[in-house]
Amino acid sequence: MRKTPITIMPSILAADMGALAADCRRAVEAGADGLHVDIMDGHFVPNLSMGPAVVAALRNHLGAGVHLHVHLMVVRPDQYADPFIDAGADTVLIHIESPCDVPDTLRRIRARKVRAGITLNPDTPADAVRDLVRDGSIDEVLCMTVHPGFGGQSFMPEILPKIGAIRAWDEAMPISVDGGIDRDSAPRTAASGASIMLAGTALFRADNMSAEMAAMRKECADRYGTDLP
Ligand code: DX5
Ligand code: ZN
Repeated sequence: MRKTPITIMPSILAADMGALAADCRRAVEAGADGLHVDIMDGHFVPNLSMGPAVVAALRNHLGAGVHLHVHLMVVRPDQYADPFIDAGADTVLIHIESPCDVPDTLRRIRARKVRAGITLNPDTPADAVRDLVRDGSIDEVLCMTVHPGFGGQSFMPEILPKIGAIRAWDEAMPISVDGGIDRDSAPRTAASGASIMLAGTALFRADNMSAEMAAMRKECADRYGTDLP
């Protein structure tokens, strides 16, 4: 029976930007499996966040052992994947809605020995990534559970069937969820088949990040895959 451990990566968009490295270290020490880094260009989404220099600084500060999970919400991820890989990304996730050659960009990311992920906005159906899942050209599928651009939004439960559909195509594919993930929504996504929890506000703003992560991990582990037929 398929069972992979639940992975939790805090989204640093909700970290203290004035003390970013220290707050990222706090997350790692609290038990994070890696850090989710949101890259926004003000065009693909209506917000700006950070560039490759910040990722390089985090890599330098945190050392090689911390997984940096880089989510490109930019119009041309084909032009920006390489700078983020150079900066130290371990996973690069691009959007299926990007106006570029998505399969070629995924190939180029993998050619650099970096995990390549595909992301779907809430309004994009699972079918949009079906071929990529089936032909083995990706390492992860990220289902957005909010409209991307800002932290602190409410989880969209209507995304759950999409997670289940992708899980039904591939028992082993790592499926991540991003947006409004907390100790209540995370286990619901796990029950549909999600195994990687990306959570900003719920973790960085918790009174006790370590306890919050442990609670999320336990609830998810109990329910991971339990709603599969
Ligand atoms: C949204 C970003 C998310 C965001 C999640 O566009 O991709 O990673 O930081 O933040 P919370 O967990 O606060 O919804
Ligand atoms: Zn994200």
